[in-house]
Amino acid sequence: MAPIGIFFASENGGTGELARLIQQQYLPKGAAVVHNLDDTDAAQMDGFGALLFATSTTGCGDLPAALEAFVPELDAVDFKRKVVALVGLGDQVNYPDEFADALGVLYQELRGRGAAVVGAWPTAGYDYQRSRADLGDGAFCGLVLDQENQADLTPQRLTRWVESVRAQLLAGGADGAGAGAGQTV
Ligand SMILES: Cc1cc2nc3c(=O)[nH]c(=O)nc-3n(C[C@H](O)[C@H](O)[C@H](O)COP(=O)(O)O)c2cc1C
Repeated sequence: MAPIGIFFASENGGTGELARLIQQQYLPKGAAVVHNLDDTDAAQMDGFGALLFATSTTGCGDLPAALEAFVPELDAVDFKRKVVALVGLGDQVNYPDEFADALGVLYQELRGRGAAVVGAWPTAGYDYQRSRADLGDGAFCGLVLDQENQADLTPQRLTRWVESVRAQLLAGGADGAGAGAGQTV
């Protein structure tokens, strides 16, 4: 079984495309499988040592419907020996006060269930007023991408971020890298 499960929630397809791009172009062949949270149950997360969640933000800082519906199911996931990383899509120009908020909400839901989240990302280079994904120390809780306004930066951001988390994701929960150990956000 592939070590990494990529689970995405999307309203208009962009996050799904990005999830597949990460799988196909940024991770080793066969290292990851992609699931849409729309047709996933918690049991499908069982076998993976690493989970990569990707979500857009909709409404006014809201979760995509598929993620909103899935959050209670996270109770059934054992995060103890898993590593988790996060990717969020947002639009800092049209939603400067709710930029990538869904990523921050998901982060809190995961931390509340004991998940070890890796892959903090600098807030430098973005221009927004407020974001629930902003941890307040110059870092987002995961990689934030703005396909509307900074699509040209996406390839280099992806390259740098995946490089920073690749080893942890591939090791998964082995070597005690899961919750409670290792470099976490
Ligand atoms: C109706 C609507 C509401 C949105 N609300 C937000 C928001 O509150 N915060 C944000 O950062 N981006 C917001 N966005 C931007 C999307 O998150 C962004 O376009 C993303 O790339 C869409 O990904 P998707 O195609 O997977 O849904 C919104 C977009 C739409 C169409």
